[in-house]
Amino acid sequence: MLHLDIQSTLAKAITPSMGIPDQELTALRTSMKRHIDDYLRERTQGEHAWSMDPYDKQMLDRVKEVAMHAKAERIKTVVWIGIGGSGLGPKVIQEAFEGPDTVEFVVIDTIDPAMLQTYLDVIEWKSTLLVIASKSGDTLEPMSVFFLCYEELKKARKERAAERVVALTDPTSGYLHNFCLNENIQMLPIPTAVGGRYSIFTPVGLLPLALLGGDIGQFVRGAKEMDTQCQSNILNENPAALLAAVQYLLDTKKGYPVRVIMPYSQRLQSIARWNQQLIAESLGKKETANPIPLAAIGTQDQHSLLQQWMAGPRKTWHIFITELEKPRVIVPENLDRHWAEIAGKTFGQLVDACYEGTSRALTSAKRPHVTISLARLDEAHLGQLFFLFLVEVVLLGKVYRIDPYGQPAVETGKKITKDILSRGRTE
Ligand code: PA5
Repeated sequence: MLHLDIQSTLAKAITPSMGIPDQELTALRTSMKRHIDDYLRERTQGEHAWSMDPYDKQMLDRVKEVAMHAKAERIKTVVWIGIGGSGLGPKVIQEAFEGPDTVEFVVIDTIDPAMLQTYLDVIEWKSTLLVIASKSGDTLEPMSVFFLCYEELKKARKERAAERVVALTDPTSGYLHNFCLNENIQMLPIPTAVGGRYSIFTPVGLLPLALLGGDIGQFVRGAKEMDTQCQSNILNENPAALLAAVQYLLDTKKGYPVRVIMPYSQRLQSIARWNQQLIAESLGKKETANPIPLAAIGTQDQHSLLQQWMAGPRKTWHIFITELEKPRVIVPENLDRHWAEIAGKTFGQLVDACYEGTSRALTSAKRPHVTISLARLDEAHLGQLFFLFLVEVVLLGKVYRIDPYGQPAVETGKKITKDILSRGRTE
């Protein structure tokens, strides 16, 4: 099971004025217990529909079937089109599981013409499976790129193009849904009650994992294990509630509004961006106070952001994510004496030392941080991590009194963009 360590946020580690005193955490226990009970009761009434996705066996079986068919068809490349919740989760899965023995997995979440041109130049459409993921089926970026790629697929496969497309969308309505019915394109559902950034345990997360040869059973098992832990209404036994409590107290009582999410694992880089979206779109709804997320990555951002975190305004607190078991790659032995401390060490030891160095440096500067450690980066631990963050955001919604679902403020820009484009071609 993943482990959450909050010691370095506490007053006893970094002084009462900078860290959380025991009595503040204790004071939150009763209200957090009420929030957990409310969340559990609401679940039984059908709210928080995403939390039941890991239990949907039918969905698992359908995803497995699609993946088995792709294997039988000897698919070499998967082109996955999706943005926001429909792209960030699949990117996490791709970075964690793509390897020399898997299909090539290309996530296109851009409309940058230069990038699109490059994709068009290199993709071998005859052996490609095209996946379009859009819950609404109406988002400008993925839909425009889908139309582009579908044309390419049609050039390569003529009237058999539709057989090589899978669409993930709302099962009841939307442009994409109707388009697929007309074109006879296979669809997998993103359940109507599950919003984009909450969809990781629907085909949005399951299908990439299955296509990359991962074990989706283990992925949902991890989620269910975390679900069980997060049903405890005892603060110290519920990692999502504990993380939410730390987030809330550091922000509202200690004045740290910026939540830095920093995996010390390149393969987890995108989970920081996924969590950034989850926090920003779910909670960015109150001018007075809400967490401001910032995705970072170790060790690279030690060389860009750490200076600010160590000595700049005391506005940031940090979530580090580490994986304990790592592939064994070794620094050569025969180095100049100048490099004696690293000669013959594994790169895993180097990463661990960098993380520990940063963590201890922050503690010495009395800057709060937590660490989430995964025994290893496998399906089950990833399932635990995603589920942990999802429950946390719901509990944060309750403590901050913010509805975590929907993202109404995003619509203004979308509408203006549509108006601009409706005025006619600009080239
Ligand atoms: O969380 C959300 O709902 C959004 O970020 C969406 O995922 C994003 O806007 C993409 O939407 P769609 O999947 O409908 O194309």
